[in-house]
Amino acid sequence: MILKAMNMNKPSIASRRNHRSMKEREALFRRFGYDSAASLRFILAKVLPLPGHVLEIGTGKGRFLAAMAKRVDCITTLDVDAKQQRAARLHVRQTRSGRRIRFVTHDAGHLPWPKASFDTVVSVNTFHHLEHPIRVFREMLRVVKPGGKLVLSDLSPRGFQIFDRIHRLEGGTHPRLEKGLVEFQRLLRQRGWRTRRFKGCNQEIVVASSPTKRAEDANRRT
Ligand SMILES: C[S@@+](CC[C@H](N)C(=O)[O-])C[C@H]1O[C@@H](n2cnc3c(N)ncnc32)[C@H](O)[C@@H]1O
Repeated sequence: MILKAMNMNKPSIASRRNHRSMKEREALFRRFGYDSAASLRFILAKVLPLPGHVLEIGTGKGRFLAAMAKRVDCITTLDVDAKQQRAARLHVRQTRSGRRIRFVTHDAGHLPWPKASFDTVVSVNTFHHLEHPIRVFREMLRVVKPGGKLVLSDLSPRGFQIFDRIHRLEGGTHPRLEKGLVEFQRLLRQRGWRTRRFKGCNQEIVVASSPTKRAEDANRRT
């Protein structure tokens, strides 16, 4: 496991360059109908608050990380790809959004923490990139504390269509999460989690709280 803490120096030339290239990419997404900023705002509106120590699965270039970091005190973010995390670190620095962020380079299929290590576990636009999404999902459930919160967000069918078109134009392909998040919502419900699902801004979101939390809520009502 490689562990690095966030260094909050002022934006460097590298982070400004990274920022420019992310902005250019986002402008392309917008021309095809995907507005990254609007999608991030939509996700945050549906999932906040993100309490306690938050684990993010799939740092990527750090778009969701930077957006949530302004509202969350303590974040650990994990990605298998060190290069992506370097870009994310630059993005966080450029947007001055990171206070307490730890970057961990590791496979999400085998999380390097004991069970019940985090108050909240989130993953945004990552599940369709996973080779073994069910294995990662199980790992996410394992490391979240009783009474904790789980957030899964990924592209909606229309979002996938947009990225299919972009990648086809660029001569590549883009993976899909064939059944969307509904399958994971079903598994969560089977395990007694309370779940809500939202759709909008080309995103699909499942927000879930663990059975212990539900039991606490039921007690409060009686
Ligand atoms: C599209 S990016 C995530 C986007 C990011 N959440 C954001 O908001 O900018 C998907 C990421 O999943 C990572 N990934 C794929 N398989 C993984 C695995 N088994 N373990 C950890 N990360 C993985 C990839 O390296 C990639 O950085």
